[in-house]
Amino acid sequence: KKVVLAYSGGLDTSVIVKWLQETYNCEVVTFTADIGQGEEVEPARAKAQALGVKEIYIEDLREEFVRDYVFPMFRANTVYEGEYLLGTSIARPLIAKRLIEIANETGADAISHGATGKGNDQVRFELGGYALKPGVKVIAPWREWDLTSREKLMAYCEEHNIPVDFSSKKKKSPYSMDANLLHISYEGGILEDPWAEAEDDMWRWSVSPEAAPDQPTYVELTFEKGDIVAIDGEAHKPHEVLEKLNKVGGDNGIGRLDIVENRYVGMKSRGCYETPGGTIMLRAHRAIESLTLDREEAHLKDQLMPKYAEVIYNGYWWSPERRMLQAAIDETQKNVSGVVRMKLYKGNATVVGRKSEQSLFDESIATFEDDAGAYNQKDAEGFIKLNALRLRIAAGKGRQQS
Ligand code: ARG
Ligand code: SIN
Repeated sequence: KKVVLAYSGGLDTSVIVKWLQETYNCEVVTFTADIGQGEEVEPARAKAQALGVKEIYIEDLREEFVRDYVFPMFRANTVYEGEYLLGTSIARPLIAKRLIEIANETGADAISHGATGKGNDQVRFELGGYALKPGVKVIAPWREWDLTSREKLMAYCEEHNIPVDFSSKKKKSPYSMDANLLHISYEGGILEDPWAEAEDDMWRWSVSPEAAPDQPTYVELTFEKGDIVAIDGEAHKPHEVLEKLNKVGGDNGIGRLDIVENRYVGMKSRGCYETPGGTIMLRAHRAIESLTLDREEAHLKDQLMPKYAEVIYNGYWWSPERRMLQAAIDETQKNVSGVVRMKLYKGNATVVGRKSEQSLFDESIATFEDDAGAYNQKDAEGFIKLNALRLRIAAGKGRQQS
């Protein structure tokens, strides 16, 4: 028996390695990925080795993560419940996919993860796992074991000689955090009181808007078919785009969010998020679409967006409905190319200019000045009268109420 574990190298998943070996008497394969969480992944090798793991996978998935997951999601301007940019949700399908691929490579029949039985992440890992390998076994230690407190976990470490430094040299954060190139999230701790304001030193990627520079920063973002390919005229790979925008956005206090959201399992949860690059990207993408998309196309994709967001939030990336929506969204992006100029200032990412060779904006028609016959204003009279026809008929029958 063999199980592939999504292993961070931290205390919790290190305990899981031991617990799986003991409880299931199985060979554990660890998988650790760099998806831009900003922590070295290489140290996970020595830690896994010390726990007796023989097959250790450590991978740099930053480019794949942004190119094949984040960018496709942003083409839809995806936002969950009006605010959440889905930073954690969008990373899970990639991890699920790699867990299954590694299971297939190593001949493992099971996968395991460190998500609790209360959250969304368990659902996302496992739906992905089942969708890609229908017969896979799933082991979710948090739903099984009785190590339900920090103390019990530490006692388990001591008992099983799990090296102390696994509990991290740095002071243990009081929050449950998750980070990747798109965002960093904070839940738990004092945030469990929705009225309690987050302490300013919680935020790791951004300065507060108050502490941001008094001078604005301008950036020009070049889009090609809906994706950013260059910043200030310089070409960048997808993950480099987010790295750069996170930096400049964070420096200007952009992308902080504090919300109460509805988890798929049914409870409400309070979370704080920092998504500096994503916040800039979303605004900019809408701006380039405003020039290049047909009105009906734009409005219809806006109607599909909340459904698409829910599909991703709830963990159905690897589903026919996600692929179907993606095909529709990608079809709209053929002409979404051009440049957007953004002004970043004290927490605000403002669009100040946009241009495109594919622009549908026609100045000769839109002008308030003389349009030299480009648009016949008399046409509007019939347009309005026919559109009013049913209103006039109803009013004539006494149906109109004021
Ligand atoms: N509530 C967010 C979501 O469901 C963030 C979850 C954070 N996950 C974590 N393991 N700390 O997408
Ligand atoms: C967890 O429960 O493991 C984190 C939070 C979530 O998945 O929603």
